Amino acid sequence: MTTLHAPTTNGPRASTARDLWVRLRSLVHRVNTFRVFEYPARSERRDPPTPPGFELRIFDSLDEVPGEIARTVMPGRPFDLMRTRMRRGLARLLVLLDPNGAVAAYGWNQSWRPFRRRFAKVATDGLMLGFYWTRPDQRGRGLYPYLIRKSVALAPPAAPLFIYACVENGASMHGIEKAGFTPLAILHLRRLLLGLNFSRVVTDLRPTAAARTAPLPRGTDAAGAGTDRGIGHAAGQAASHRR
Ligand SMILES: CC(C)(COP(=O)(O)OP(=O)(O)OC[C@H]1O[C@@H](n2cnc3c(N)ncnc32)[C@H](O)[C@@H]1OP(=O)(O)O)[C@@H](O)C(=O)NCCC(=O)NCCS
Repeated sequence: MTTLHAPTTNGPRASTARDLWVRLRSLVHRVNTFRVFEYPARSERRDPPTPPGFELRIFDSLDEVPGEIARTVMPGRPFDLMRTRMRRGLARLLVLLDPNGAVAAYGWNQSWRPFRRRFAKVATDGLMLGFYWTRPDQRGRGLYPYLIRKSVALAPPAAPLFIYACVENGASMHGIEKAGFTPLAILHLRRLLLGLNFSRVVTDLRPTAAARTAPLPRGTDAAGAGTDRGIGHAAGQAASHRR
């Protein structure tokens, strides 16, 4: 006699097929819900001190990134999105090295250009901060909020600054608020094959009714055409930030 829960020989095979189906489907159709944050226009953009014992390195050019750092921060080969963006001058890399010279944490300052369609409902221009990562054994020491603050300090002074996290990522949202960002909106993003994106604002999270009277999207270009201010680097500036 068999029961409903009896193990079957095709169990593992079925789960492999299911995994494959989930992967294939995510290539064609992906849905994410993000919490988007902005840096308040009136907040200071103070340069934070580097955590004791750590060294901050900043890279504007892919050619300058040492191989061992590139392997951690841009592992995709042969194609890696961040390699491409760096090559095009759309991304600046911040790396925090531990006392042994290994990558303890990293993050990116990115041009608005790659985000302008997906995030058009919340902002028309600015700088997007992220993705950030902290090595598991270094977590809970404030390296993430430090790097976000550093990203803020490095940005062009008047650029609107945005950052987002998946709504399930409690640690990330906590660090973002610790670094001084305030919630702007919850954005539902549906991505189809060929990079077709459909986004909608699910909830306006601006803190007061007065703040919510100004319509989304945010940014300095009210017409919504979008501008690209660049990521704030200038020739020679990267070297001067290296410590
Ligand atoms: C998210 C991440 C970058 C945080 O790095 P970190 O350097 O450890 O950040 P912090 O030092 O601020 O520590 C995490 C904080 O979140 C808190 N936290 C952890 N899990 C949490 C949760 N589920 N909900 C709310 N807060 C949480 C911790 O208590 C700590 O806060 P505290 O310092 O006030 O006690 C790191 O966990 C990571 O690399 N995750 C994988 C990649 C990722 O998710 N990147 C973010 C996407 S941009």
